[in-house]
Amino acid sequence: MKIELLNGKYATVREVVKDDAEKVIEYLQSISSESEYLTFGEGELSLSKETEKSIIREHITVNNKLMIVAEYEDQIIGNLNFCGGSRLRIEHTGEFGVSVKKEFWNNGIAENLIDYLIGWAKDHGIITKINLRVREDNDRAMRLYARKGFVEEGRVTRDFYVDGKFYSSILMGLEL
Ligand SMILES: CC(C)(COP(=O)(O)OP(=O)(O)OC[C@H]1O[C@@H](n2cnc3c(N)ncnc32)[C@H](O)[C@@H]1OP(=O)(O)O)[C@@H](O)C(=O)NCCC(=O)NCCS
Repeated sequence: MKIELLNGKYATVREVVKDDAEKVIEYLQSISSESEYLTFGEGELSLSKETEKSIIREHITVNNKLMIVAEYEDQIIGNLNFCGGSRLRIEHTGEFGVSVKKEFWNNGIAENLIDYLIGWAKDHGIITKINLRVREDNDRAMRLYARKGFVEEGRVTRDFYVDGKFYSSILMGLEL
């Protein structure tokens, strides 16, 4: 999948491969200082290449998991992970997280990553529900999710604790 960026150049969306481990680590480290809304802060992630490789392997081999990246000039600039349930009664449903490198925000990258997820889930045959949780004050993300058809389903209080303050998360879902 190709995305035309505001600079006239293109980014691509694709599934991860094992050799991406180092690039994924670099990406996660680079975004850790860019947003209040991630579940990790600056310097908090210390993933080894082996650990990241095994996370990637799991997403490639487990049928109801998906990891995709947006790539620009050989650099990862966006990422989406979906994890379906591991037992028969919950394998049709799962939660995803998405992020984009700040310098590339407002180029439609997250929207394309979500479109890819929805297309993949529809083709999958088993997945009939996609869930997410988003910090209550993350208006940009919630607007995007609503545009993609996600609806609010609930609120988890004290889900984030950042700089001495609690924040709730909003649960959103899309039935396929
Ligand atoms: C939230 C996040 C993933 C959105 O990523 P993004 O790639 O900027 O999202 P998109 O570009 O698809 O959409 C954002 C806006 O850009 C606009 N846009 C998309 N393509 C555009 C284009 N070609 N030209 C101008 N505007 C464009 C969209 O309409 C949208 O507008 P809105 O703010 O009015 O809704 C990103 O800001 C991020 O990583 N934030 C930090 C982590 C985070 O919050 N993750 C979500 C946790 S639940």
